[in-house]
Amino acid sequence: MKTHSNSLAAEFEIENLLGLDLVRASEAAALNTFKWIGKGDKNAADAAATDAIRGMLNLMDMCGECTIGEGIKDEAPGIFLGEKLGTWRPGAPAVSIAVDPIDGTTLTSKGLPGAVSVIAAAETPSPEQRSLAAVPSVYMEKLAVGPRIKEGTGSIRMDAPVEQNLELIALKLAKRVRDLVVCLLDRPRHAELIKEIRRTGASIRMIGDGDIAGAIAPSMPDSGVDVYMGIGGSPEAVLAAAAIKCLGGEILARIWPRDDEERAALKQAGYDEARIAAVHDSEQMAKGDSIVFVATGITNSALLDGVRVDGTTARTHSVVMRSRSRTIRYVTTYHDLTRKTIHLHSEGGKRISDP
Ligand code: FBP
Repeated sequence: MKTHSNSLAAEFEIENLLGLDLVRASEAAALNTFKWIGKGDKNAADAAATDAIRGMLNLMDMCGECTIGEGIKDEAPGIFLGEKLGTWRPGAPAVSIAVDPIDGTTLTSKGLPGAVSVIAAAETPSPEQRSLAAVPSVYMEKLAVGPRIKEGTGSIRMDAPVEQNLELIALKLAKRVRDLVVCLLDRPRHAELIKEIRRTGASIRMIGDGDIAGAIAPSMPDSGVDVYMGIGGSPEAVLAAAAIKCLGGEILARIWPRDDEERAALKQAGYDEARIAAVHDSEQMAKGDSIVFVATGITNSALLDGVRVDGTTARTHSVVMRSRSRTIRYVTTYHDLTRKTIHLHSEGGKRISDP
């Protein structure tokens, strides 16, 4: 009886309380980025978001460790692998943290839609057993679908021809292949993939940046996207996997070394050919059932509205997802900027009456 009530209390504390604190952290990142929207300085925007998110995460009562940070691709001022986050109070829960203070730094600097601040967290049995995978490469190949594609017989496969995967997806969605919508990043490296998709008759939605939201889209009802494909950032693959676990969909991802030099560096780090070629699914990238995923809109997108400031009030839109219950909550927050404090890591706390 005692054990049962303790475990209920633990579940409540770790996942629900973590969720609220995490959303406060992604909100802080979005609010602190607001002044950089459209200002042409993506590094300044990223630094502002990172400062705010790190400041908030460090107030949380957890033994947190960053397994997915940023900064690998852009050498940006990021939160890096292995960084300790939280209070580290003895007895506080051990938590793996994956963070992307801004997915869409260029979108933010140009004032374009689609930038979000994202955090995933998962309780870990011990600091050595990370629940969120650390991936050493810059890029991964990705293939993400919604919950209905997981049902019944037949599975999408990373190595299957595009046409074959699309036929399976169409069958499970009771659509024709030509009615499918495929989302991918608009990049020259996708030229061949784009031709293959178009040959099937399916339609493409290209995004300029922000492939966490792109990969999540097929799992979101009414997104209008049936499948996400292509090569994007590795941290973004793990963050998307955390959300997709909460939504019941699936993402497959495989390391995509850019060149021989990166392949050699991966081998040096202990990744032989088989490990490089391994296909990871959402459970391998985001293990277990205690996953919490949060995102706050920076600029407007189909997933979330961006930050709006009206006089001394700011409004943020966030989503909070839990894998255990698959609850998806949308949180609209009104911030009184005359009273709001953003706990910047660099300053230990700052009032932002003028965001
Ligand atoms: P940043 O916000 O870090 O610039 O990432 C944006 C992004 O579009 C990701 O969503 C995506 O995974 C990655 O960049 C793709 O990398 P690249 O722009 O090098 O193709």
